[in-house]
Amino acid sequence: MDKTRDVIVACDFPSYDETTAFLSRFGTERPYLKIGMELFYAEGPKIVQELKSRGHRLFLDLKLHDIPTTVKRAMHVLSSLDVDMVNLHAAGTRAMMEAALEGLTRPDGSRPLLIAVTQLTSTDPTSLRKELLIERPMEDVVLSYARNAANAGLDGVVCSPLESGIVHECCGPDFLTVTPGVRFSAGSAGDQKRVTTPAEAKALGSNYIVVGRPITRADDPVGAWLRCRADFL
Ligand code: C5P
Repeated sequence: MDKTRDVIVACDFPSYDETTAFLSRFGTERPYLKIGMELFYAEGPKIVQELKSRGHRLFLDLKLHDIPTTVKRAMHVLSSLDVDMVNLHAAGTRAMMEAALEGLTRPDGSRPLLIAVTQLTSTDPTSLRKELLIERPMEDVVLSYARNAANAGLDGVVCSPLESGIVHECCGPDFLTVTPGVRFSAGSAGDQKRVTTPAEAKALGSNYIVVGRPITRADDPVGAWLRCRADFL
C-alpha cells in the first residue's frame, strides 16, 4: 500500500459512542480516520488512544493558530498522542510553523506529519476579497502559504484538490496535499465551495482526500467509502 495516498474519513461526530456505532459498520476494515474539534473537545485526548487501539491511522485536525510560543507548547502536548498527522493554520506565519515543528518533535526525533491549512475549502474568492481583504487570486494565496509551510519544514498542506497540482509544481512531488472538499456530484457541496469528485482529486494529484458527510451521512457508508477508494486510489 502507498502510505502517502489514502481516503481519510472525517469522523465529525459528537461522541465516542456515535463514532464507534458508525465504525462498527466497517467490520474488519480499518479506514484512516480524522478526529476533528467536535469529537476531540467532547471526548478529550483519550479518544485518540481508543481509536488507535482499534487499529486506525489517525489525522488529528485541530487547526492550531496562535502565537508561536503557545502553539509550540500545545504541539508538545500533542506529541505525546499516538497520531499520524496533525495540523495548524499557515496564516499563523512561518515563525509559528517553525515553533510548532519544534514542539511536535519528540526527544527521539520522531513526530507525526505536520500539515498546514492554506485557505479553508469553505472560503470562496468573494469572501477572500470582501471579508478577509485579500486581493490576490485564491491560487496565489494558497501557493504562498504552501511555500511558507515548505520553507518552515512542514510535510504538506491542506488545500482544495483544485490546488493540488500547482502546490506540487511549486513545492515538489513529495510535499503532501491533503484535500477536503470532495463530493460525488455537483449540487451536494453544502458549505464547501472549492470541490471535486474523488476521481478528479486523483487526476489532480491529491495525496489524501478527506471525506466527511458523503460517507458519514450516506445510507450505505461502507459502500460510499469503497466507492471513494475505488475512484481515488
Ligand atoms: O463533510 P465534509 O466532507 O465537508 O468534511 C470535510 C472535513 O474536512 C471537515 O471535517 C472539515 O472540518 C475538514 N476540513 C475542511 N477544509 C479544510 C480543513 C479541514 O473541510 N481546509
